[in-house]
Amino acid sequence: MATTVDLESLPGVGPATADKLRDNGFESFQGIAVASPGELSNTADIGESTAADIISAARDAADVGGFESGADVLHRREEIGKLSWGVPAVDDLLGGGAETQSITEVYGEYGVGKSQVTHELAVTVQLPQEHGGLEGRAVFVDSEDTFRPERIDDMVRGLREEALRASMNQRGIEGSPDDEEAMEALVEAFLDKIHVAKAFNSNHQILLAEQTQEIASEHEGTEWPVRMVCVDSLTAHFRAEYVGRGELAPRQQKLNKHLHDLTRVATLYNAAVVVTNQVQSNPDSFFGDPTKPIGGNILGHKSTFRLYLRNSKGTKRIVRLVDAPNLPDGEAVMRVENGGLKAE
Ligand SMILES: Nc1ncnc2c1ncn2[C@@H]1O[C@H](COP(=O)(O)OP(=O)(O)OP(=O)(O)O)[C@@H](O)[C@H]1O
Ligand SMILES: [Mg+2]
Repeated sequence: MATTVDLESLPGVGPATADKLRDNGFESFQGIAVASPGELSNTADIGESTAADIISAARDAADVGGFESGADVLHRREEIGKLSWGVPAVDDLLGGGAETQSITEVYGEYGVGKSQVTHELAVTVQLPQEHGGLEGRAVFVDSEDTFRPERIDDMVRGLREEALRASMNQRGIEGSPDDEEAMEALVEAFLDKIHVAKAFNSNHQILLAEQTQEIASEHEGTEWPVRMVCVDSLTAHFRAEYVGRGELAPRQQKLNKHLHDLTRVATLYNAAVVVTNQVQSNPDSFFGDPTKPIGGNILGHKSTFRLYLRNSKGTKRIVRLVDAPNLPDGEAVMRVENGGLKAE
C-alpha cells in the first residue's frame, strides 16, 4: 500500500516542513524512508540530525522492508514472468520477453514507436500464457496524452487468430474472430483491463506511481492481477520542469524516488514495468553519443533492460538491447504496423 499521509505525524515535521516535503515529491513515508539525511535537509531546510530522525521514523511507519531469507528471494525469482512483445525476434533478444520484477526502458527518437510498444504490451499482457501473455491487467501512466483506445482496438484485431480465439474463450465471449459482434466485445474487454491515468506534471506522475501500488494491491490474488505497468513518457515532465544545469541534482532525486516506487510495484506485485524515454539524435553534436538516453545515468542503474529503438526502412524498426545484466547485447528487427508490432 502506498502511504500518502499525514507527514505532520513524524517527529520534527510541522506544517511548513510538511509542505516543503510535499512540494518536493516527498508525499509518502516510503519516499522519505529511502531519502538520505542530506537530501532531506536540503529539501526541507532542516538540520541533518533532525532529517535523520524523520527518516528513521518514516522507516518505521512505512515498513520499507529490510532483510529476507535467501529462500524468499529464490521463491520470488521463480515467479518471474516474461511478457511477449508479439515479435519472436524481440522476445528472443530479451530471453523470452519483458520481465516482471524488472524495469524495462525503451528509448529512442520522436515517432520511432515507443508508445506503440507500450500499447502493444498493454494488449499482450492480457493474453493466456501459451500465447505469450501473463493473464493480467495493465496500468498505463500517460504523461504525454499518448494513450489511444483506437490503437488498442487495432492491436487486438491484429492478434493472431489462435490468440483471439483463446482470449474469447478465456473471457467467455461467444462467437469467433470473424464475427464482428464478438470482436467488439473482445476489444471492449481488453480496454476494460487497462487502467489509464494522465499525469499532469512530475509530482502528479510520482503520485500516480504510488497509487499504482494500490491498484496492484487491490487486484492481487484475483483472476486478473496487475502484470504490466507502463509510464509513457517517464522523463518528459521532468525534463520540461527541471531546466538547466542547477536543476540536474533535484531532477535526479525526484526521478530516483519515482523509479524506486516503480521498482517496488514491479517486485512486490510481480509486474513488468516499462518506461519510455525520448532521445534526440543531434547531427550537429561532435561530442558524446547522440544515441545515449537523456536521463543518462539517472536511469542506468535502475532499468534492468534498456532497449534502444531506431528507424529503419519503411515500417521497420531496429531494437537494440543495451547493457542487460545476464544477456548478450544484440539487435532484432520488427515492424510497426496498423495491427501492432509484427515480425520482420
Ligand atoms: N494506425 C497506425 N498504423 C500504422 N502505423 C502506425 C499507426 N499509428 C502509429 N503508427 C506508427 O507509429 C509511429 C508513431 O510511434 P509512437 O507514437 O509510438 O512514437 P514515440 O516513439 O512514442 O514518439 P514520441 O517520442 O513522440 O512519444 C508512427 O510514425 C507510425 O510509424
Ligand atoms: Mg510516445
